[in-house]
Amino acid sequence: MQEGKPSRTAWAAAAHRAAHQILEGGRIFADPLALRILGEEAESVAREAEAQPSRRRMRIFIAARTRFAEDSLAAAFERGLRQVVVLGAGLDTCAYRSPLRDRLRIFEVDHPATQAWKRRRLEEAAIPIPSSLTFAPVDFERQTLAEGLGAAGFDPAQQTFFTWLGVVPYLTEEAVWATLRFIAGLQNGAHVVFDYSDPPDSLSLEGRALHDEHAARVAGLGEEWRSYFEAGELRAKLMALGFSEIEDLGPPQIAALYFPNLVIALPDKGGHILRATTL
Ligand SMILES: C[S@@+](CC[C@H](N)C(=O)[O-])C[C@H]1O[C@@H](n2cnc3c(N)ncnc32)[C@H](O)[C@@H]1O
Repeated sequence: MQEGKPSRTAWAAAAHRAAHQILEGGRIFADPLALRILGEEAESVAREAEAQPSRRRMRIFIAARTRFAEDSLAAAFERGLRQVVVLGAGLDTCAYRSPLRDRLRIFEVDHPATQAWKRRRLEEAAIPIPSSLTFAPVDFERQTLAEGLGAAGFDPAQQTFFTWLGVVPYLTEEAVWATLRFIAGLQNGAHVVFDYSDPPDSLSLEGRALHDEHAARVAGLGEEWRSYFEAGELRAKLMALGFSEIEDLGPPQIAALYFPNLVIALPDKGGHILRATTL
């Protein structure tokens, strides 16, 4: 991220969610606040997205990861979960529209500059902040999650659900594992959903070309991709940390879940969405 400036990829992810509402009718992930929080006109969001057809795959991936995270959260809620942490929240709107929002304690953690910008966006869009939400500014590279959440009144004794979408690739491996260690160490159990990518040299030719195009774009925004994981190694390390149940969806599994009628075969490698729990 650029020093003192809000994340530009947070804006880009939010623009993808807004475009998904307009171009695909929110078929995978319906978000009535997606356009409003962005503060743009529907026509210009649609025009911009349609002018870059190679970005469609990323838009669909972002819709799928958000849907998967919110479905997993709802399932955990049914089993008694009441505390949620949205890590690297960007312009995520779950806290402002989820039907569960008044029955959950929610913490939004983000880089201080991004969070200050989001709060301005919420005000300008007249989106009310629920009393169940607490903002916790944290720079993952400089501060521990325990410090940031502790200062915000987080209860480490409560079972907690962490969503961590679109953030892991931008962090150093050290920062990624520090956060996962914290989550795994919570005494009464935790769940986490995050997304990650296979290493670029393991991708198909087409996958590599799409990766390189996207990586160059985010690097140009001052937010370089720094971490990749090999699925088998990641699973082994997560289990060693104490995560017992791991659901890792690669491209074919994501397609099977959200596009059951798709006829083309997808490569195994690419973007993954992973859910792990210590319970
Ligand atoms: C691509 S955006 C994703 C935002 C949101 N989760 C979503 O899916 O729309 C990346 C997010 O990671 C956050 N981020 C990146 N580096 C960070 C750091 N060192 N500390 C805290 N947050 C960071 C940015 O502020 C931004 O909100």
